[in-house]
Amino acid sequence: MQIEEENTNTLLEAENLGHAFDYTLYKNVNLKIGRGESVAIVGRSGSGKSTLLHNLSGFLKPMEGRVVLFSQELYSISEKKMERLRRESIGIVFQMHYLFKGMSGRENIEIASILAKESVDERILEALEIEDVIEHKVGELSGGQQQRVSIARVLSKKPKIIFADEPTGNLDKESSNLVLDVLLSYIEEVSGALFLVTHDEEMAGRCDRTMRLMDAAVTQIR
Ligand SMILES: Nc1ncnc2c1ncn2[C@@H]1O[C@H](COP(=O)(O)OP(=O)(O)O)[C@@H](O)[C@H]1O
Ligand SMILES: [Mg+2]
Repeated sequence: MQIEEENTNTLLEAENLGHAFDYTLYKNVNLKIGRGESVAIVGRSGSGKSTLLHNLSGFLKPMEGRVVLFSQELYSISEKKMERLRRESIGIVFQMHYLFKGMSGRENIEIASILAKESVDERILEALEIEDVIEHKVGELSGGQQQRVSIARVLSKKPKIIFADEPTGNLDKESSNLVLDVLLSYIEEVSGALFLVTHDEEMAGRCDRTMRLMDAAVTQIR
């Protein structure tokens, strides 16, 4: 019984993942993320955290191993299916957020939500404390405000899983906590999952589990 339950709860599973650029970043990475679960990954700069996030999120095909997301094997399904998953079900908060600077925050958010056939959730804008600046052009916003707009953009697609690469990198402690509050309550609300890359031990400590990428291996440290 327990195995069955575990299977239905698994949103993401990676088997024997490996990736290398000039050197081996990691090998034989196995991990599972269940519904409602938040997992933080920590590790030194250059250890391969962003690459792992890209492998897991359908953005970059791993050199070894496989990734199963929502019971579908990424990189094996058709490009059309993959594109739909990306547009509707997978939310990636990139380390460099790619907002259109000449457009307002709201327009940036609407693009994503319309493509995913969803409407912008004003509660998320309020929770991220950007409701008063959302009509301004992104280029006029501070780095921290832009980061929060990029998070609102991802959430407005109503994805089932969120991959966030240092989403609090530009933020002070108060805003960092606010962003993590929003991400954690969002995944709880949709029974989704969060994969969070962070440098910040305190942020990692607020997730259900912490993994570390070190010496080309991923181990659970908490
Ligand atoms: N597209 C790429 N081509 C070549 N090397 C890359 C590429 N992306 C990342 N790297 C290298 O892989 C290593 C790990 O990068 P990254 O995954 O961004 O690490 P982290 O996010 O932990 O800082 C770095 O040495 C980086 O220069
Ligand atoms: Mg990185």
